[in-house]
Amino acid sequence: MQLEAGDKTIDESRQGEATMVKTKSGTGKKLLLESYGCAMNFSDSEIVASILSEEGFTTTKDAKEADVILLNTCSIREKAEDKIRNRLLAFKNMKLRRPSLIVGVLGCMAERLKETLLEQEKLVDLVVGPDAYRDLPNLIEHVGTGQKAVNVLLSREETYAEISPVRLNSNGINAYISIMRGCDNMCSFCVVPFTRGRERSRNPESIVNEAKELAANGYKEVTLLGQNVDSYKWNLTKKGEVKDEGLPTVSFAQLMEMVAKACPGLWIRFSTSHPKDLTDEVAEVIVKYDNICNYIHLPIQSGNNEILKKMNRGYTREWYLNRIEAIRRIAPKCSISTDIITGFCGETDDQHAETLSLMEEVRFDMAYMFKYSERPKTLAERKYEDDIPEATKAKRLSEVIEVQMKSSYDRIKKYVGTIQTVLVEGPSKKSEDDYAGRTSQNSMVVFPKGNAEKGTFVEVRILDCTTMTLKGELVG
Ligand code: 5AD
Ligand code: SF4
Repeated sequence: MQLEAGDKTIDESRQGEATMVKTKSGTGKKLLLESYGCAMNFSDSEIVASILSEEGFTTTKDAKEADVILLNTCSIREKAEDKIRNRLLAFKNMKLRRPSLIVGVLGCMAERLKETLLEQEKLVDLVVGPDAYRDLPNLIEHVGTGQKAVNVLLSREETYAEISPVRLNSNGINAYISIMRGCDNMCSFCVVPFTRGRERSRNPESIVNEAKELAANGYKEVTLLGQNVDSYKWNLTKKGEVKDEGLPTVSFAQLMEMVAKACPGLWIRFSTSHPKDLTDEVAEVIVKYDNICNYIHLPIQSGNNEILKKMNRGYTREWYLNRIEAIRRIAPKCSISTDIITGFCGETDDQHAETLSLMEEVRFDMAYMFKYSERPKTLAERKYEDDIPEATKAKRLSEVIEVQMKSSYDRIKKYVGTIQTVLVEGPSKKSEDDYAGRTSQNSMVVFPKGNAEKGTFVEVRILDCTTMTLKGELVG
């Protein structure tokens, strides 16, 4: 379970972690690259690493020896930005002592704050938005001549399709594959459509090739990433018309099928699904292929129709429940997680109670829960008042957490007594004697190492559980 300050797909301990770039030709410059926020940012950092390794940058985890420091940033909630600002202030001090140091901001904050970071706050030399990473080598060179550099142009085409990401901080087992960029949904609370631009899908062939390459390099699991994977469309317009008669059209369900067939040894995950676009075909393809994981992350945000409308989510509570019914009917083994926001503009106690009742009705396996954080320029900021007191947001958050804890426990405990296939990811955090891995349903399993090996699939008999973790022993 993760709360407010956390990020939804990346382990907290990885936030801000320094990353390694392999040397190619070696310009002798040392780079520190830190990533914050969502899985998409971590995936983007791997593209940045690839682009800069071509230029011969070597890396360091030590800011003191870096020539260039790049922060790949997140704007989703105010707290995320505050954290990065503090980091930038520390680097600003470092720069006073070492003026040749280049500090740059990449990602969502770059897009949102541009001049503020550069001109008013004078925190950085370099500001580069998510669609401009190919320009990084030029921009860094420009800064080297003593000037500031900015490229925050958003693109309708850029997917970095043919760039082979340098896998950063990789355990050699799980990897992200970005299948699309941007978002066209305009949920009223969300800054992403402004910072990441219009939605565009990546060529399916390049996606399948990337998965095959990962499999050939020993990886065992890939997560297909997009802000709204269900609206992945290749060679189709928004209206469903074929763009190029000479090319095949590919939906998200078809893309998953292509990857599943091409890489039978890989477990395939995906994130994030959108309730308004999730089709029965997606659930059907999960059932059809053993290597597609039984797990769907389906953010609800609120259980009240009026709030959902104000959030511009494009579905109602009834529609959402219908999608849950379809998943449970077609793919009954699927676990389901969600995102919830408490204290959105004008939310009454009764409306909040409807979120709690929806949670009771669905009984999610897991949830990421947040207090509403108003973001500048979003639809909600322009149209509605952020009028719910912080204390009320917090109280409602603790109520949704309480319901979720019970439901997580109820859901996870049904695995006790069963045998589960587990992909072994590495030693458990608590004990060197235990391994930790995940099931197809994304439950964490901890078990004594025995003769198991990292990066293999093993059978584990589940003996016990806590709200978040299964405990077991190797079978055989
Ligand atoms: N305030 C709080 N939570 C937000 N999210 C997105 N924008 C905001 C915001 N302004 C949450 C949503 C989304 C998840 C990625 O982050 O629940 O699904
Ligand atoms: Fe933001 Fe909504 Fe797009 Fe998700 S679907 S990124 S919440 S606008």
